[in-house]
Amino acid sequence: MQSWDAVWMVNLPGNRGSCWVATAGRTGYPLLDSSIHAETVVVGGGIVGLTTALRLREAGRSVILVEALEIGKQVTGRSTAKITTQHALIYRHLIDTCGVPTARSYAEANSAGAELIKDWIKEHAIACDLERKNAYTYATTAEGHGEIIAEAEAARQVGLQAEVLDRAPLPFETAGALCFADQAQFNPAQYLVGLARAVANRGGRIFEKSRAILIGEASRWRVVTAHGTVHAENVVVATNMTVKSPVGMANRTQPRCHTAMAFRVGDPSVIDGMFIGIDDPTHSIRTGRDGDGPLLVVLGPKFNTGQDGNVAARFVDLEEWSRKNLPVGDVAWGWCNEDYDTADRVPYVGEPDPENAPGFHIATGFNAWGISNGTAAGMMIADVIRGGSSPWHNLYNPTRPYPKDFHKNGDSQSIVQSTNDIRAGEAGVIQRGDEKIAVRRDADGSLHAVSATCTHKGCTVTWNNADCTWDCPCHGSIFASDGTVIHGPARQPLIPVDL
Ligand code: FES
Repeated sequence: MQSWDAVWMVNLPGNRGSCWVATAGRTGYPLLDSSIHAETVVVGGGIVGLTTALRLREAGRSVILVEALEIGKQVTGRSTAKITTQHALIYRHLIDTCGVPTARSYAEANSAGAELIKDWIKEHAIACDLERKNAYTYATTAEGHGEIIAEAEAARQVGLQAEVLDRAPLPFETAGALCFADQAQFNPAQYLVGLARAVANRGGRIFEKSRAILIGEASRWRVVTAHGTVHAENVVVATNMTVKSPVGMANRTQPRCHTAMAFRVGDPSVIDGMFIGIDDPTHSIRTGRDGDGPLLVVLGPKFNTGQDGNVAARFVDLEEWSRKNLPVGDVAWGWCNEDYDTADRVPYVGEPDPENAPGFHIATGFNAWGISNGTAAGMMIADVIRGGSSPWHNLYNPTRPYPKDFHKNGDSQSIVQSTNDIRAGEAGVIQRGDEKIAVRRDADGSLHAVSATCTHKGCTVTWNNADCTWDCPCHGSIFASDGTVIHGPARQPLIPVDL
């Protein structure tokens, strides 16, 4: 564990938050404040939930969607939003570990997801900065170059077009690249706002600031929020990590974070394409824009959520790497995004227990490729609810076997001896008897305390000194500095404590 002396509150440059979320615009859907019924209730207004909802409305099925916070402002809105079937090195891995049919099914599901996004943007006239771009996976080592060649062969084997280049079109040295031509990028938060509008225009009902605090059985299913209840024949838990499931998903997955920064850039055409590196430390690169002009968005290597006591230092490293390798100007935005990895690198989607919990659908574990996989997940869930089957049922089967040692709980990285060790602008976890208390000190010296015990399964949270959140090192719940839930699986806030 890092010593607390090394953990400082860095004054990070730029605005905190995602450049996509900042430019998404307001939605303003009402709070759920009554007891209502629909055939399907969707929990979560990200890409899975909204795709499911729109697909169901297109088929004339009744649907209600409840979002804990605001549409488009959560995990999807913090992603890099590449609409591509190129997921770094995946097809060689899937062929070697699961066989060609599974790898082909993965390619088909993600191709279908990518196509649906582009079709819907056109059909629903969603202004979300959609741009056709080539996707590149690049290597910086000779070993990586070999992996690029193997991946290209695997991709062709499952029906995808892949070209190997001697180098990536980047302003630094690379040892080769895999190119998937004619992929796309967009602003994911604007896309979700547009999808929500399309759902509402077709008679779907959407409620915001309506966190599901209970999901349970009624005549079939009920989702209870602070002020209302939805009864439904089907429930779709589309909350990135499931906040409820008849078969637990938390131990089948590992929560991961990435640091992301968006820089001002003079001439955005110097970077033409979407890029992901495969050699450590890996970086992901794409262009974008906010209200003030073009941006270059760069992601750093992943790390386990809540298992790093100095996330701010990762931003310092990412800025340094970006300035060394890319033509970047001032930092405009910086944020952490999160997702869940699975052991076989394929998401879990579907009904975990169709016999005992029919109509209960989940989607999780997108391995940071949730745009095309998440859309495919929504398509699959909606198709099953409509009474059909899905060709991706086996691919995404949420109860397929998994290695029991894949998931690793972590310890809090913020333990200090006493509040005296917490300087202005910092935070730490102190022990008082049997109780662990998460304490932060404001710039004026005043102390604020909540329980450090995560309300999901009781692990001790870690202070994220970049986003100023309390992050759980076990299953990735994220709490605001005042303890309110930002990201599950926790559904209840950290309990306020008197010091
Ligand atoms: Fe599971 Fe915190 S998220 S214990």
